Amino acid sequence: MAEKEIDELTGLPTTGHEWDGIKELNSPIPRWWIYTFYVTIVWGIAFMIAMPSIPLVNDYTKGVLGFSQRDSVRQDIVDARAAQSGFRDRIEQASLEEIRDIPDLFDFAVAGGKSAFSVNCSQCHGAGGAGAPGFPNLNDDAWIWGGNPDEIFDTIRVGIRSDHPDTRFNQMPAFLADELLTREEVSDVVEHVLQISGQDHDEDAAGRGKAVFVEQCSSCHQESGKGVRELGGPNLTDAIWLYGGSRDEIRKTVATARNGVMPAWEDRLDEVTRKQLATYVHALGGGE
Ligand code: HEC
Ligand code: HEC
Repeated sequence: MAEKEIDELTGLPTTGHEWDGIKELNSPIPRWWIYTFYVTIVWGIAFMIAMPSIPLVNDYTKGVLGFSQRDSVRQDIVDARAAQSGFRDRIEQASLEEIRDIPDLFDFAVAGGKSAFSVNCSQCHGAGGAGAPGFPNLNDDAWIWGGNPDEIFDTIRVGIRSDHPDTRFNQMPAFLADELLTREEVSDVVEHVLQISGQDHDEDAAGRGKAVFVEQCSSCHQESGKGVRELGGPNLTDAIWLYGGSRDEIRKTVATARNGVMPAWEDRLDEVTRKQLATYVHALGGGE
C-alpha cells in the first residue's frame, strides 16, 4: 500500500483523490458533530423505550411511559365537554323558543349547530345549507315540511322517508312508469305546471293538463299547486325547485317520481346537538 500523503499546509492526510492537481483532504469530522451524533442515538433508543414506537403484527410496543394520543384526545374532549356542560345543560332544559331569546345560549347553539351541520348535513345540503338538485336549500323561505324551529327539529329527528317509525312520509306516484297516466296526459300536466310556475308553456295542452292536475295532483299539491305542508307536497308555483323546473325535469319527476330520502338523526345525534342544529338551520335566514 502506498505511503499516506500528508498535506504540508494543514498537516492532514489526503484521501488520494486528485483532480487537476487539487487533492482531497481527509479531514476528521468535528468533535461536536460526533458527540451530537452519539447523543441522538442515545436519545433515539431512550425514546423507543419510553414511548410507543415499534409496530408489531397486531399491536405496537406501548413504551414504559404509557403515553397514548388517543388518551390525550379523550382527555381534551372530556375537558371541552366540562367547559361546555353548563351550556349544554341549559340547552337541554330550554325550549327552542327560549334558546332563541337568550343571546349567549343562542350563540352557543348556533356555533355548535354549525359544526354539527358541516359534519353531518353538508354532504347533502351543501356547505351553509345552500342545497343541490334533490337536496333542498335550507337558507330560503321555501319549506317543504315546515320552517319553524319545532318543525325543523322534528324533520331532523325523524327524517323523511327514513327508517324511523315516525318518519315524515309521503310518496308521489310514478305516473308514467306505473301507468296511472298516458304519455299525452303527462305532457299536458307538465304544461300546466309550467303555466302555474310562470314559464313558457303550450296554452291548449296546459288547459287540458289542468283537469289532470286537479284530479291526480291536487291531493298533495293543492288545486292551485301551492303545495300541502302536512304531506310534504312542495309548492309548484314558485321559482324554487327541488329537482328542477325545466320541461324535461318536471316531466321526469311526474313520469318516474323522485321521493328523496333524508336520514333520521334521533339515534345518531343527542338531543342537545339536534336542538343546536334546529336553531342553526332556523337562523340561516329562511326560518319562520
Ligand atoms: C343523505 C342526504 C341527507 C343528509 C345527510 C341530510 N339531509 Fe336533510 N334532506 C335530505 C333530502 C333529500 C330532503 C328533502 C326530502 C323531501 O322532502 O323530498 C331533506 C330535507 C331536510 C329538511 C326539510 C326541508 C324543508 O323544506 O322542509 C331539513 C330541515 C333538513 N333536511 C335538515 C337536515 C339536517 C339538519 C341534516 C344534518 C343533521 C340533514 N338534513 C342531513 C337529505 C339529507
Ligand atoms: C301522494 C302525493 C303526491 C301526488 C298525488 C303528487 N305529488 Fe308531486 N310531489 C309529492 C311530493 C311528496 C314531492 C316532493 C318530494 C320528493 O319527491 O322528493 C313532489 C314533488 C313534485 C315535483 C317536484 C317539485 C320540485 O321542486 O322539483 C313536481 C314537479 C310534482 N311533484 C308534480 C306533480 C304532478 C304534476 C302531480 C300529478 C300528476 C303530482 N306531483 C302528484 C307528492 C305528490
